[in-house]
Amino acid sequence: MESAIARRMEGFSTFYVMELLQRAKQLESQGKDIIHMEVGEPDFATPPCIIQAAIKYIQAGNVKYTAAAGLPELRDKISDFYLSKHKISVDPRRIFITPGASGAFLLALGVSLNPEEQLLMADPCYPCNHNFVRLMQGKTKFIDVDANSNYQLSAQLIKQNWTQSTAGVLIASPSNPTGTLVSREVLASSIKQVKTLGGLFYSDEIYHGLVYEQQASSALEFSDDVFVINSFSKYFGMTGWRIGWLVVPEIFIDAAERLSQTIFISTATHSQYAALAAFSSENMLELERRKQQFEKRRDFLYENLIRLGFDIAVKPEGAFYIYANCSRFTENSFQFAKDLLEQQGVAVTPGKDFGKNQDNCHIRFAYTASIAKMTVGIQRLEQFICQ
Ligand SMILES: Cc1ncc(COP(=O)(O)O)c(C=O)c1O
Repeated sequence: MESAIARRMEGFSTFYVMELLQRAKQLESQGKDIIHMEVGEPDFATPPCIIQAAIKYIQAGNVKYTAAAGLPELRDKISDFYLSKHKISVDPRRIFITPGASGAFLLALGVSLNPEEQLLMADPCYPCNHNFVRLMQGKTKFIDVDANSNYQLSAQLIKQNWTQSTAGVLIASPSNPTGTLVSREVLASSIKQVKTLGGLFYSDEIYHGLVYEQQASSALEFSDDVFVINSFSKYFGMTGWRIGWLVVPEIFIDAAERLSQTIFISTATHSQYAALAAFSSENMLELERRKQQFEKRRDFLYENLIRLGFDIAVKPEGAFYIYANCSRFTENSFQFAKDLLEQQGVAVTPGKDFGKNQDNCHIRFAYTASIAKMTVGIQRLEQFICQ
């Protein structure tokens, strides 16, 4: 019955790391100790005040839908967050609560991308992006990026690659897998360029809270006519709660309202109450402490990978990933990752998961493990490459 599968699924990519993860679980069930440096979610537990807020709501017993766009008080809180963090005023009517950034992508592209229209994206980038475009029967044009542009797109790259069918540009800053930022100047000129070319700008700001030496700029600082995707998954450490948000340009409010009614009805209500508690000053202090830990981990991992001979063209400024060139050790990073897991019990993500641009000579290391665990991981990695 293979022909019964919709044609749009043909271009859908899978995560190669899933194969490694399955094997890692198998090895763990056999009693082998695995150091996980492949996981794209914070290892910290959900802070107690967030859990309490969800329990309180659930225990009241009346667990119901909310409005499709989300709890008004949560949309207001997010609007306040933009005011205090970025000094920008965002009308809460433009903010839609979604099941994670993944739900935000679905909503953003659902209301704005037509079949056959093309989006520009950097290669490497987060692997699900082009699947979302594919779902809308759109097309992705990948642009190879390197250290020269901080592994990000720029106004110049956008202009050079724009075609008749291009409808917009999607960036993620900081990026997954490289952890690099789009600078304030490049963000402003890229948005301007896309506007001049008559397209839409989509900014994935999911790793925004996790930027270490500076503050990331939001696309909303430069224009109201942009889609901004964000989430409680990463900085707020709430991956399993499945909650995020989307900011839409004013003219898309009505369409986003109608589409979210259909595809979500609403985001899980207990998660929305939990997210509301995530903005408490007590929790924000805890999140800043966690961020400091991530920064220490980044420095630890960066120094050690360089010491071992990995090439890291740009020191990551945010997120919790290091995208390291491993061509000194292998011409096949997927095989390298498989062997590293089998022989030393260290799990990492191969470049293959993020595109085709020099994927075979890159590995993504996630510092979502403690320094103590990563110390063991580095020792094992050293043994593996020195054997
Ligand atoms: C760049 C990027 N965008 C979006 C997502 C989706 O996140 P979620 O749906 O958990 O909010 C991820 C998850 O890893 C990501 O790395």
